[in-house]
Amino acid sequence: MAYNGGFRNVPYPMMKDYQAPPDLLQGRVILVTGAGQGIGRTAALTFAAHGATVILHGRDVKKLEAVYDAIEAAGHPHAAIFPLDFLKAGEADYKAFAEAIHSQLGRLDGILHNAAYLPNITLLENESLDLWTKSLKANLSGPFALTKACLPLLKASPDASVVMTSDHHASHPAAYWGVFAVAKGGVESLVKIWAQEWELHPQLRINAVVPGPVQSPQRRRTHPGEVHESLPADTTLMPAYLYLMGKDSAGTSGRIIELGS
Ligand SMILES: NC(=O)c1ccc[n+]([C@@H]2O[C@H](COP(=O)([O-])OP(=O)(O)OC[C@H]3O[C@@H](n4cnc5c(N)ncnc54)[C@H](OP(=O)(O)O)[C@@H]3O)[C@@H](O)[C@H]2O)c1
Repeated sequence: MAYNGGFRNVPYPMMKDYQAPPDLLQGRVILVTGAGQGIGRTAALTFAAHGATVILHGRDVKKLEAVYDAIEAAGHPHAAIFPLDFLKAGEADYKAFAEAIHSQLGRLDGILHNAAYLPNITLLENESLDLWTKSLKANLSGPFALTKACLPLLKASPDASVVMTSDHHASHPAAYWGVFAVAKGGVESLVKIWAQEWELHPQLRINAVVPGPVQSPQRRRTHPGEVHESLPADTTLMPAYLYLMGKDSAGTSGRIIELGS
């Protein structure tokens, strides 16, 4: 697999029109972080509808149970609920998380790192060290530690895909986006470093998506002046998410893919 250094936009016209076969993810086990609401919920339902056994991660078990019930009601493969708070987790917790995947599901073929911790947006001078520590832990260290713990499972898969979620402010840092922009910039670096390091594992790929503005609980909070309903629905992202998670993206690695432009 050739590492391409990461680039923006190039594959999106093709990805947004991607038509996934109904059984694209059949037989695969895919972990979705932050699956209880917003984009993560929609991605979990979409992956399940395409045949995946989805591991639903988040903090709020009630929300995860509602997603689990929706998957059951639709007759898709049974999901699994794996709660974990990235703010509280240490290396041993991530190891235990991966071991539980192995013992309960036997395999792992993909991770969508979608969870995000963004309690507020404000001036840098108003951000506390505590906020910096928490944001870097939940938005950067957590995805790193979880992926690292799951690596033996991913390497054992015949076709494994890790999809990180970035944000426009990673490459366009701007006032008020503070540590969140810094953490998402770190996520993009992580993708490029790991893509190079995994060149010896051609069945394993890692990319980042930049979703662009879509309707979600987080967006409603961070952009109160916006007419929320005028934004595209998060379902518009799903052709690209399916493309990146399924076999048709094999060989694509190290890319930062902007879906909103
Ligand atoms: N929506 C947009 O327009 C937009 C634009 C650009 C980028 N993005 C990115 O797309 C992703 C999804 O966005 P969204 O708007 O759908 O987000 P959201 O509605 O805020 O959902 C975030 C999820 O992250 C989980 N989470 C938060 N803190 C956590 C922690 N400490 N430990 C574990 N899980 C935690 C939450 O779980 P609980 O609910 O269980 O606490 C929640 O399910 C994010 O990475 C975001 O940065 C979104």
